Amino acid sequence: MSNKDNKTAKLSIGEKNYEFPIYEGTVGPDVIDISSLYAQTDNFTYDPGFTSTASCESKITYIDGDAGILLYRGYPIADLAENASFLEVCFLLLNGELPTEDEKGEFEHAITYHTMLHDQMITLFNGFRRDAHPMAIMVGVVGALSAFYHDSTDVTDAKQRLIASRRLIAKMPTIAAMAYKYSVGQPFVQPRNDLDYASNFLHMCFSVPSEDYVVNPIAAEAMDRIFTLHADHEQNASTSTVRLAGSSGANPFACIAAGIACLWGPAHGGANEACLKMLTEIGTVDQIPEYIARAKDKSDPFRLMGFGHRVYKNFDPRATIMQETTHAVLKELNIEDPLLDVAVELERIAREDEYFIEKKLYPNIDFYSGITLRALGFPTSMFTVLFALARTVGWISQWNEMIEDPKQKIGRPRQTYTGHTERPFKNISER
Ligand code: SDX
Repeated sequence: MSNKDNKTAKLSIGEKNYEFPIYEGTVGPDVIDISSLYAQTDNFTYDPGFTSTASCESKITYIDGDAGILLYRGYPIADLAENASFLEVCFLLLNGELPTEDEKGEFEHAITYHTMLHDQMITLFNGFRRDAHPMAIMVGVVGALSAFYHDSTDVTDAKQRLIASRRLIAKMPTIAAMAYKYSVGQPFVQPRNDLDYASNFLHMCFSVPSEDYVVNPIAAEAMDRIFTLHADHEQNASTSTVRLAGSSGANPFACIAAGIACLWGPAHGGANEACLKMLTEIGTVDQIPEYIARAKDKSDPFRLMGFGHRVYKNFDPRATIMQETTHAVLKELNIEDPLLDVAVELERIAREDEYFIEKKLYPNIDFYSGITLRALGFPTSMFTVLFALARTVGWISQWNEMIEDPKQKIGRPRQTYTGHTERPFKNISER
């Protein structure tokens, strides 16, 4: 950040005037440093949901919501989705640059050779009911990693942070596949070192001991691209959760488990599951007007899942790529999904509707992802699990950046209190 022109923001409260430095990033809005506001003015700022608050300085991901731009370390998401593997994107997010051939080989080998889980962790799964939501299993098992890999929990040791980061990226597909297999009552399938990251995941999910399983390369390519689209997204709710948990010095596995818990919400990563349920409930194109009306009705809590975004007030660039991927997968797998017709028509109607135009509500990444994931063979209960699998590299990259930031301290927001002032205790006979 630079304050090269010594720009300041002026604030007057009553008769007093205050000035606060304004810093510029490389691109995007300037920030007003108000860290001394309370000390100088005895006032807090008030910003529920942090709509106007930058929580940190970051070099990882940049979003321009008005222009529909998403950059990972400066590279446009469309270029990465088209030209890079998910593991190349993981290296980029973690290290700041795309890997050379040698770096790519070393990183792929390191991830491949950390995909197995400690065998004792497998008994953890048996503690869950078979009908447990796979996200409940993910929160539990990922949090438990710190009980098995405590040789990589010292956040002050860069070597331990590196191994924990690689273990998490490597083991999330194995845990996610086991959560799926557990929910369908099939035996766990161990990872294979001769398969690439996405193929290995599909193999662990869909192969069974009773017959050979050959990964469809189009499905693997689509899976890999879906991981890239979901990898990071600056300071979204779950990433902010990971940063806040990490600011206390909690170990990386506990922080990622906290991120998974936050992502689960239907307003966030749970929207892909909620969106497919919504499309299923709508059922046919002729039912769409009723649901559009409900989404606009303030007295009705119904919202169009997969529409709207805190930052994007234009098309979510990921949704565009996701839509293309959906069409390619359905064509390649020769699947006619009526829900795609509903989704395409719903998008067309919504985007012509004054309400959605005025409120700048566009399809987000969750609008088409569910149709693709269903075509790949996943049940809706696994959709957010796949989001968490892909977002782990973003979470852990942001966590590393925070730990290495000399300015970082424990996150501890304040409040405006509107409760009772001090009052005397009342005995029960007086209440
Ligand atoms: C993700 O932050 C990220 O980066 C998240 C994410 C990532 O990669 O990490 O991109 C992933 O979470 C994508 C979003 C997935 N969620 C959904 O699809 C759920 C449906 N969308 C909404 O719940 C909502 O749009 C949010 C939560 C995504 C954003 O909400 P905001 O920014 O708090 O905006 P808002 O709720 O105040 O909406 C602004 C207006 C409101 O109307 P008014 O109060 O101004 O009259 O738009 C309306 C809302 O009622 N609105 C919708 C709507 N979304 C917003 N109306 C109908 N349907 C919708 N989907």
